[in-house]
Amino acid sequence: MLVVGRVAQVREFVAKTPRPLGLVPTMGALHQGHLALVGAARRQCASVAVSIFVNPTQFGPNEDLTAYPRDMQRDLDLLAPLGVDLVFVPLVEEIYPEGFDTRVEVGQVARRLEGGQRPGHFRGVATVVTKLFNIVRPDMAYFGEKDAQQVRVVKRLARDLDTGVEIVVVPTVREADGLAMSSRNMYLSPAERSAASVLYRALCTAQRLYREGERDAGRIRQAVERVLGAEPLVVAVDYVSVADSETLDELERVDRPTVVSLAVRIGRTRLIDNIALSGV
Ligand code: PAJ
Repeated sequence: MLVVGRVAQVREFVAKTPRPLGLVPTMGALHQGHLALVGAARRQCASVAVSIFVNPTQFGPNEDLTAYPRDMQRDLDLLAPLGVDLVFVPLVEEIYPEGFDTRVEVGQVARRLEGGQRPGHFRGVATVVTKLFNIVRPDMAYFGEKDAQQVRVVKRLARDLDTGVEIVVVPTVREADGLAMSSRNMYLSPAERSAASVLYRALCTAQRLYREGERDAGRIRQAVERVLGAEPLVVAVDYVSVADSETLDELERVDRPTVVSLAVRIGRTRLIDNIALSGV
């Protein structure tokens, strides 16, 4: 496993590595969710590259950029047994050198939900993902359904900018109580951690109503809000969305492939999760 920090070193590696090459972009603090992406890449690709970069441009001024968990040695120890070929761990100056002045901005699908709550977030994601695609030039890139809107944003840019990168989406990996794995779960106190299972319970309520025949999106939203509202440690519900799976347009009737997504604050920690509504 080659670990490098420079763009030039990545270019040297990718020039001679067997194809297809799969890229797994991460911000580190790796958990089983990240490792599932690496596993999928390992199965499908001849070479696997992982990037670890806490991207400052996707954090808002009042967000957790400085507090974001960082533990490079632990991350490398987790990756080493998985047959990863290259780990790219650039410094901020390598990705954003003095004078850097270009942004990638995805339209419509990036504006609602997370984009509405976190101005500039998806511009930062789209910019760094485009740079990583240009630096690594992978054949495929792996993203988690956990960040459903990020997947739609990345698919849009991959298509619109003719990146030639196939976007592979990996299902959400969950803890035993349903909580989606996330680097931010580390911020939760024990009481908050046990309260956090309410996100998945709320999503399962939506799924159950749908399976019972409910097609009124408003009633599904309200039921989800009721479950979240019953948990005293939920201090705010930023949004509950019942939307078209592809465009993320809010629905009135659930009459097409639909994703229910939510963002919730538990104490000072903001958590997101989502579920696709399906009949079985
Ligand atoms: P990060 O939060 O580190 O996540 C890296 C990848 O792991 C993302 O594609 C995310 O959706 C996926 N992931 C996280 N938790 C998961 C889970 N429980 N199950 C399955 N996949 C999971 O997302 C980012 O970093 C950044 O925005 C990035 C794309 C790296 C750009 O900076």
